Amino acid sequence: MKIDIISAVPELLDSPFEHSIMKRAAERSLLDVQVHDLREYGTGKHRKIDDYQYGGGAGMVMCIEPILNCIERIKEEGSPDEIIFLTPDGEIYDQSTANQLSLNQHLILICGHYKGIDERLREHVITKEISIGSYVLSGGELAAAVVVDSIGRLLPGVLNDETSALFDSFQDGVLAPPVYTRPADFKGWKVPSVLLSGNDAKIEEWRENRAMERTKLRRPDLLED
Ligand code: 6GU
Repeated sequence: MKIDIISAVPELLDSPFEHSIMKRAAERSLLDVQVHDLREYGTGKHRKIDDYQYGGGAGMVMCIEPILNCIERIKEEGSPDEIIFLTPDGEIYDQSTANQLSLNQHLILICGHYKGIDERLREHVITKEISIGSYVLSGGELAAAVVVDSIGRLLPGVLNDETSALFDSFQDGVLAPPVYTRPADFKGWKVPSVLLSGNDAKIEEWRENRAMERTKLRRPDLLED
């Protein structure tokens, strides 16, 4: 999969994809993330990327032209499946959206800044708008990192144990059960004995029950439908 990210602060995305699972995805050529510095597409000698809003009001608005020029450049190397705008007023992102997006070949992510972007881009160019939660970030970059990470780990061959994403929290609509490792007894804090029993059926049953219990307690909304 190819993901192009358009950003006015590309430095914010220097490191998130260079470690751990995202690094492995890149090394295995399963995920290619390119960050594009919007300033390079700015207009005039000051490489302008934002301007005052019509009608007055505080806050600058990101201009159409630089973003469109950057998109056109990216399109020279193939047309994207989705052009996604990261914005606090977008659709709330969840595992099911991550699953759907992971089936694409090519995505463009646009990181919002300032007061937002010219509405005409949203009307005519952007195909999907995503928010990662009900709070405001200074820009879309951290949200883009969240989206890329959550998609990248779903690509076949990225995780070593191919099955492990299937057991993530949310993947079957419930939270994951608690996990333990050695020692079995840490100063009197004991691992549940069923996990040491060697009885696979009992262990599976215990995990399902704990997962359900935890979901009812912490995220009852996941069980509603
Ligand atoms: Cl995608 N962008 C910004 N700026 N703030 C957010 C967000 C995105 N998602 C939640 N808050």
